[in-house]
Amino acid sequence: MKVSVIGTGYVGLVTGVCLAEIGNEVICVDKIKEKIDMLKNGQCPIYEPGLETIIKNNIKRGRLKFSHKIEEGVKQSEIIFISVGTPSLPNGQADLSFVEQVAKEIGKSIDSYKIIVNKSTVPIGSGDWVSMMISESMETGNNKKVSFDVVSNPEFLREGSAIEDTFFPDRIVIGSSSKKAITIMIELYKPLLEQDFEWPDSKRLVPEVQKVPLVVTDLTSAEMIKYASNSFLATKISFINEIANICEKVGANVTAVAEGMGLDKRIGRLFLNAGIGWGGSCFPKDVAALTYIANEYGMTPQMLNAAISVNKEQKLKIIKKVQDELKIVKGKTIAVLGIAFKPDTDDVRDAPSISIMNGLSNLGAKIKTYDPIVKNKPDSLTDRVKICKDAYEAIDGADILILATEWRQFADLDFDKIKKTMNHNIIIDGRNFFNKEKLQDMGFRYIGIGR
Ligand code: UGA
Repeated sequence: MKVSVIGTGYVGLVTGVCLAEIGNEVICVDKIKEKIDMLKNGQCPIYEPGLETIIKNNIKRGRLKFSHKIEEGVKQSEIIFISVGTPSLPNGQADLSFVEQVAKEIGKSIDSYKIIVNKSTVPIGSGDWVSMMISESMETGNNKKVSFDVVSNPEFLREGSAIEDTFFPDRIVIGSSSKKAITIMIELYKPLLEQDFEWPDSKRLVPEVQKVPLVVTDLTSAEMIKYASNSFLATKISFINEIANICEKVGANVTAVAEGMGLDKRIGRLFLNAGIGWGGSCFPKDVAALTYIANEYGMTPQMLNAAISVNKEQKLKIIKKVQDELKIVKGKTIAVLGIAFKPDTDDVRDAPSISIMNGLSNLGAKIKTYDPIVKNKPDSLTDRVKICKDAYEAIDGADILILATEWRQFADLDFDKIKKTMNHNIIIDGRNFFNKEKLQDMGFRYIGIGR
């Protein structure tokens, strides 16, 4: 099938590239020309394991093309995915200005029947709004009689495992009032639904999936499925973080508690890892947007508000732990390992590490940090933080070491060496990632989250 994907962020690029891999002719469009030039040369502008190889393979096969002109994508495809950003405005509302620009451009260029797919996470009701934007823009052109359908097809991939999540999804959701559009979308996703494709990377593990469940519903429900799923997961993490905080008081171990709870099929073990709170480009934005929508209807979404407030406090708890240990933070040196909001990504949006580093720096601490992939100082991080070339440089002379992101390579750190170079041997493990007993036996003071 002929597909175009507008927006080459994590969601758009992965979607386009994977649709090419399963046999479609795909054009990925982005208004940023430098990004498109990189992609045309087979270079991936984001860090996502496995993605660059699939980009290169599909350029070679002639199935994957790139353009910075929306018109080119629209004219050459029957299915057009809108995958542009919907960042949070200061009041929590989703900013739809990028979606609006794209919808208007589509309206101007549409020349035959098209399916417009909302892949961006958009507020409830946006499907109809996109439809209106396209129609209004068509009225000014000479293509008034051309028909189109809008579909909501929310994305559930996680950064860092985006390829696996796309090829082996837990479900595919298609929301539309058009039977024709639904039939075409099912056809597009057939190889994934039936798990009938060749897995592109033989070196990587393939989960056992027989067939992928399909949910066909109306536009509004599909949009709500996305917000409700992300909000539920964020709430689940806030819940276990609250339990972790109680565990600390009563002397229980939250990891054991999560294991014990997670064995109950109704609860499940995933997303019960206590830590320094959830961040990234999705949970904070989507929970805030759903809260905003509820407020618009005069509701107070108490569960969502609680999830947000527990999360805010969880980041501050790390600062409190540092104060408890060092008493005076001013003039102390603190090493922070990990900047990205989670491992296997270079994304620093709403990363808890940044709030923690900014907070400690404001208290007068000297902060040194290292991340295996994030090499440049994020704009949201204070200039006073030093980015180091490796973990040992960050830890050298530190009074406290904080683990903020559980990159796999941090498991192999040489703690004998670290012990010799730290000022005080205090480790705050913000992800319950290190081996507590081993570190304690080596003479470190180990502080985890709820263990
Ligand atoms: C999330 C959802 O998991 C995806 O299903 C969704 O498609 C995506 O948002 C999106 O809306 O685009 P992502 O933000 O990439 O994916 O990352 P997650 O793995 O969900 O992690 C989010 C945050 O929760 C991270 O800060 C992570 O460290 C934290 N987390 C996750 C925990 O603190 N504990 C856990 O047990 C799991």
